[in-house]
Amino acid sequence: MNLQIAGKTALVTGASKGIGFAIAEALVAEDVRVVIAAREQAGLDAARERLHAAGGEVIALAADVATAKGVSDVVAAAQARAGSLDILVANAGGPPAGPPASLDDAAWARATELTLMSAVRLARGVLPGMRERGWGRIVNVTSLSVKQPIQELTLSNALRSAVTAFARTLANEVANEGVTVNNVAPGYTATERLGQLFADDYARARVMSSIPVKRFAEPAEIAAAVAYLCSQQAAFVTGQTLVVDGGMVASTY
Ligand SMILES: NC(=O)c1ccc[n+]([C@@H]2O[C@H](COP(=O)([O-])OP(=O)(O)OC[C@H]3O[C@@H](n4cnc5c(N)ncnc54)[C@H](OP(=O)(O)O)[C@@H]3O)[C@@H](O)[C@H]2O)c1
Repeated sequence: MNLQIAGKTALVTGASKGIGFAIAEALVAEDVRVVIAAREQAGLDAARERLHAAGGEVIALAADVATAKGVSDVVAAAQARAGSLDILVANAGGPPAGPPASLDDAAWARATELTLMSAVRLARGVLPGMRERGWGRIVNVTSLSVKQPIQELTLSNALRSAVTAFARTLANEVANEGVTVNNVAPGYTATERLGQLFADDYARARVMSSIPVKRFAEPAEIAAAVAYLCSQQAAFVTGQTLVVDGGMVASTY
């Protein structure tokens, strides 16, 4: 399907590897000009080379989206180098695991900056231009934990739900201005982060057996859902969370 976004410009954060990189690849395949951001320069350079090799027009910017300055600088630099931003994919690393009763205020504050405030600040940064042009797509990468909390991932469970509620509220505010705001909630996806979450092969196999399709997602499968929400065809879809989890969340809604 031609997503009808060729020539648009996207900012994809957390895009040097994993799900974010796959999203950048999917947008490049649609002839979108892509600005990728992550903290570590070497990883970014390698990602940019791979995307260039795939024919992409790509700019790589080092940025830490867990700080207000990191977000304002990367949005300003992306606009200065690439022009107006039509698409924002707000993605980053996940907050650390930890049981509810053991996390102190500092852990909550750090995770809030990384997971909630990055999405809020990135959206605020790109929205004025999108509203002015009457066209925009904002997609937050969250987690299946917004539908079904994962024990031990307290910070992710709570803060991704906050991102979801923020997105729903913002979606209503800008719905009649050509700007959509949605979330993609991945299930277990084969990236470096997933490798770090499992203590051993037994734990990995146990989780895999609980997924109806009996495997982890490929990052490209998450990216395809994000690309759809960035498309012209998705103009009437806003305020939604698209769960891409191989059937793992068992609830009807
Ligand atoms: N993989 C899964 O099974 C899964 C499932 C559900 C939800 N998720 C969520 O989906 C998101 C992406 O997951 P992933 O598996 O692709 O992670 P990943 O492989 O660890 O990649 C994370 C990317 O984000 C960048 N990043 C991390 N912190 C950043 C920051 N503060 N500022 C800017 N960039 C930052 C990393 O580069 P640098 O380190 O160089 O900054 C990297 O490019 C995470 O939030 C994760 O929690 C993942």
